[in-house]
Parts: sequence; structure tokens; C-alpha cells
Amino acid sequence: MCGIVGYVGSKNAQSILLEGLHRLEYRGYDSAGIVTFQDGDACLLRVKGKVAGLDSLVNDSHRDDSIGIGHTRWATHGEPSERNAHPHNVGDIFLVHNGIIENYKDLKSVLETRGYSFVSETDTEVLTALVDSIYQQDKNLFAAVSEALHMVVGAYGIAVVAKDNMDEVVVARSGSPLVIGVGEDETFIASDPSALVGNTDQVIFLKDGEVAKCTRDGVTVKDSADQAVEPIVETIEMDIQAMQKKGFDHFLVKEIFDQPESLSATLAGRVVKDQDLLRLGGLNMSEEELRAVKHIFIVACGTASYASMIASYYIERFADDVVIDTVVASELRYRSFNVPENSLAIFVSQSGETADTIACLKEMKQRGVRCLGVVNAVGSTIAREVDGGIYIHAGAEISVASTKGFTSQVVALVLFGLVMAQAKGMSIEDVRPYIDELDALPEEIAAVLDTKNEEVKQLAADYSHYEHAFYIGRDVLYPLALEGALKLKETSYIHVEGQPAGELKHGSIALIDDRFFEVAFVMDNELFEKSMSNIIEVQARGGHVIVVTNSSREIEAERVVRIESRLKMFTPLLFNIVSQLFAYYVAVNKGNDVDQPRNLAKSVTVE
Ligand code: G6P
Repeated sequence: MCGIVGYVGSKNAQSILLEGLHRLEYRGYDSAGIVTFQDGDACLLRVKGKVAGLDSLVNDSHRDDSIGIGHTRWATHGEPSERNAHPHNVGDIFLVHNGIIENYKDLKSVLETRGYSFVSETDTEVLTALVDSIYQQDKNLFAAVSEALHMVVGAYGIAVVAKDNMDEVVVARSGSPLVIGVGEDETFIASDPSALVGNTDQVIFLKDGEVAKCTRDGVTVKDSADQAVEPIVETIEMDIQAMQKKGFDHFLVKEIFDQPESLSATLAGRVVKDQDLLRLGGLNMSEEELRAVKHIFIVACGTASYASMIASYYIERFADDVVIDTVVASELRYRSFNVPENSLAIFVSQSGETADTIACLKEMKQRGVRCLGVVNAVGSTIAREVDGGIYIHAGAEISVASTKGFTSQVVALVLFGLVMAQAKGMSIEDVRPYIDELDALPEEIAAVLDTKNEEVKQLAADYSHYEHAFYIGRDVLYPLALEGALKLKETSYIHVEGQPAGELKHGSIALIDDRFFEVAFVMDNELFEKSMSNIIEVQARGGHVIVVTNSSREIEAERVVRIESRLKMFTPLLFNIVSQLFAYYVAVNKGNDVDQPRNLAKSVTVE
């Protein structure tokens, strides 16, 4: 969380930094700031709230500085306020920081004895003072940052400038991403390559422990032992189109409507229907290794964890000699869990930067477990640290609430399960129905978007005034209910819970009265009658029930959204389109900030 940008070159630094911050705002948006400078004269602009607040300050200040750094913040230490916003300034040093400095209190006491005093509540100001205290000795910024970081415990991605040094931005990372964009006579810095799009496609991904000096002429890197490292410059492909709203009012609805296309990209070359073929190029596992797998940990956070749960229900159906543990990363990492023989760990993350997921990846690697990634962001930390995996290729997802990422994650995991099951002997006759349905899924999603959008919009208008809701389902529709509940609560701020339909009567039903509505997912299968009983129980207590189903049977409920589809197995992913649209329209009706809901950030890079 939090976004970092930096620039040194000959162009207007303020506008480059601002543009970068707008692109990174999805990482956090409590407060923002930039500093640019010239000949010892610095212009520091900071605001509480969104980056848009900086636009007018920049208009008023008219600087033609060509070096600077900037930040958009998701508060950890200290409330969101101008005072706590980055860049922080102590003495000659300005610094922006992602992450947490754990020993900042100890460092603060030492610095106070050296005459430093502090105006903010942040750990970042302490780090800034620490760098300044060393910098004042011989004015070598690169050396001062390296030395300061040797004294720090914690996670960080930082960019640092000294107002009397117009040639250098020094950056460093440990556990929080940083990428350097190499241009002609200019160098860009960002916590995420999306901020660099349009400026350069030549990038250096800094590794943990490395510190880099960025100048107009190039980049010098050293490792944590202060040894020079030859930086590897890579070319990244990023689509600027994916970062625009394409005529939609919000990124969220644009990304919901992206799904036929984004899912096709996930499937491209991997599901080849006319050849009865499933293929995953990046697993780096032989058939023999796939055959040997007996236990899979699928590790993720948030929406990615629900995608993982859903996929595990599918995989269990066709890989019956494999036990799957779907675990939330922030829990797994503190458990003394056992790793059975022949285990595999799969890390699922849209951003590839989620701190808890990365921590679990490190732990699994240390224990010698083979690790795969299911990741959207190319070149992200998880993608780089796993032994192999699947890029979902869903394109940039900007809205904080994940939609197209979710659909592609489920499908990528199911694809992996099928490839593994084939290695274990699943016949092509058994695989073919999955190939057929996966191949048809993008079109089926397009049909739901086409036929259900208006109906769901109206539904949302009718239910936006409720304050409480339950989402329920059985079997694979249970994790789908969890995801539906999450989508609605994060965008609408309605109190929503997801529950297994059969579990409601073991406690939660005590809450039901006519202040509640309930979204019940019901498949036309052997669980239909049981699901109907659960719905009747809720209605008997005054709850208002919306059923989302593929059944044409008669259903007694306040509202029924019927999905017509020839799919049998992947219908739940169509139900989920209804959940996504519903959450979107409720949020719009309530006047909420749809793409950047309160208190959230898209990429959670703190634990
Ligand atoms: C945050 C986002 C969620 C996302 C979760 C995991 O909480 O707001 O939308 O599902 O992080 O993110 P990841 O990038 O690892 O999939």
C-alpha cells in the first residue's frame, strides 16, 4: 500500500510526479504529497485526502524543477493528515516510504539525544532524521541512506533526496516493491510499473536489500553488503488502454464488463478446444512431478482467497488423491502448520505484492516446498519469487474491489487442477466437458452482462436502503456467497455476511428480521430442495430474499434472478457477475466512492 514516485531529468518534475501519483492512487488515498527542488530551495506540497487535492496546489506553485519525489498514502502510523503525509522533511533530507520501520521508537530516542525533534507521529519521519544525521557528516546521500538502512528493522521501499543535491534520487527496498524506469537522460522511480507507462518501458526491478542511486545518466546499485551490483534492465509491456475507463463511469463497472475479454486472455493458448488440449507453459513442473503431488496449499488474501476456495471445490472433484488446504495468508503464517510429503504451495494474488502472501511464500520456500504463483501483475514480487506459475493476463485492474481478477484466478486455478489431474490419469473424455465449458465461459459471461445489467440495476435500486444482508449458498456457492458478501460490503458499506446456507440456522438466523435482505445462490441440482428450505426459513422470519439461480423451477422468493445458460459446472461464475453488478449499482445509488472505497487499498503491502 502507498505509492511512491520519483524523477530526475530535465522535464517538469511536478507534472511527472503528479501523473504517476494519479496512476498509483489505487494503492492508498488518505493523503498525498510531492517535493521538488532547485539549488537548495525546496517546494513541498502535501494534502490530506486524494491526489486531486495536489493538482490545484501545483497549479498555484508554478515550479520548473527537474528533480523530486512523491507519495500517496494509506495510513499505518498516525492518522491521515497533512502533517503525517509524505514526503517527510528533516534538515536537508526529504523522504517517502512504504512499509513499517519496527524499531522506530528506539531510533527516535537516540536521535532526540542528538537534538532532533519530531512533528509527526510517523516512523517515516524518524527514518528521515536518521538519514539526515548521517548525511550531515559528509553530504554523501547514497552512503548515508545505505548506512541508515543498516540500522533499521522492518519493511520498506523508500525514495530519498537532499535539497542541496540536484543530481540524485536514492532508492531502496526491503519487502516493499520499487522499480526504476530508465529513460534517455532521465530516470523515473515508482513503487509499481503502472506509474511508468508512457514514460519508459525499460525498467530495473530492485531486489530486497538493494540500494540504488538514480541520476540523469543512469543507475548505480549496491546490495545489502554494500557490494556493487550490475542492474538488469528489462523491457515491460504495459497497455495504457487498460488504464482508462473507456467511456464507463467507473473502473469497477468497466472491469466487470472487461471480463469476456480478460477471461479470453487467461484462456488463450491454454484451452485449445479443437485439439482437446490443455496447456500451461509456465509451471516448470514435469508430468512426473505433477503426478506426485498429494497435498496443495493455496494461499491468498481477500477476494483471491475466495477465488482459491471456489477453485478448490472444483479441483477436489477431479483430483481425488489430493488434499487441498485453502488458507488465508495472514493466518497461515503464524500457524505451526505441518507440510506433508509431496506438498505444493500455490500463491494467488492479483497484485503479486500482498505482504502476508509474500511472507507465506518465503516460509514455504524455506521449508523446501515447490511454490507456484497465480498472479496478474507481471514482474511483481510473487511472480518473481515462485518456481513457476500462471499469469492470469487479466490486464490492469484499477478498481480496489477485484472483479475480473477474481474470475480469471478461479479459471487459472481450475486449469492447473485439470493439467495436474491429466498427469495423474484423468481421461480426455472426463476432461472434455471442462474444456467445452471453459471455452464457452467468456461468451456466457458476455450474455449475462448483456441480458441482466438492467434487471440488476433495478434490483440494486430496490435494495440499496437496507443496512444488513446475508449471502448464502451451498457447496461451491458457499465461497461464492463469501465473495458476493465481500464485494457488496466493500463498495456499499452495508453490513453483509456470507454464510453456508445450511449453517444459518446454527446461530446467524437469530439476527434475521425485516431489516435484512438475503441473496441466495441456488443451482438446479441435487441441492436445490435443501437450498429452498433455507430460503423458506429466512422468509418465515421476515427476511427479504433474492434468489439467483439457473433453475426454471417455481421459486417463492421476493425476487428471482434467473440465469439462462447451457453451462452446468461453471454457472457459479455467471451468478457472480450478478453479485458484481449488484455491488456496483448499490454503491452508485449510495453515492459512494466506487473505485476507491473508504479505508481500503488495492495492494496491501503491510502485514
Ligand atoms: C486487498 C484488495 C482486495 C484483494 C486483496 C488481495 O484487500 O482490496 O481486492 O482481494 O487485497 O490482493 P491481491 O493483490 O493479493 O490479490
